Amino acid sequence: MNPIRFSLNGRPVRLDLDEGSTLLRALRTEFALTGTKYGCGEGLCGACTVLVDGRAVRSCVTPLGQVAGKQVVTVEGLARGNTLHPLQQAFIDHGAVQCGYCTPGMLLSAVALLQANPRPSREQVIAHMDRNLCRCGAYERIVDAIEAAGRQMGGRS
Ligand code: FES
Ligand code: FES
Repeated sequence: MNPIRFSLNGRPVRLDLDEGSTLLRALRTEFALTGTKYGCGEGLCGACTVLVDGRAVRSCVTPLGQVAGKQVVTVEGLARGNTLHPLQQAFIDHGAVQCGYCTPGMLLSAVALLQANPRPSREQVIAHMDRNLCRCGAYERIVDAIEAAGRQMGGRS
């Protein structure tokens, strides 16, 4: 078994794990990064979303071998020291976190959106976030938070 190397939240890591194992399993069980959640396990709910080279991907259906040599960012990698990412702060400010189970996946999907489109319209936010499910039904507040973060960030990611 060849070690798999990649960047995880800005730090180089290596792992002796079958490359067919999922990225979600590696994050949660090998690196103890439990912010990334297991929801459906089938690529349908978005709870497990992380960034791979800046793109939002569903880690529950991403074979570990696919991230070799790439940059992976999880919710644990968003804050800078004690300063939350603007999206994290906006989610708090707008009450967009209820039980919080969907929140890490929502945040990473929203980061990808604002990197690609710093000033999305409300319709574009809704369309982009459409496949991230929130069982608490906090959708309005989540969209409000993403719009507010986009305005505040003004094109910064
Ligand atoms: S747990 Fe990965 S999409 Fe639902
Ligand atoms: S805040 Fe509970 S599932 Fe979204």
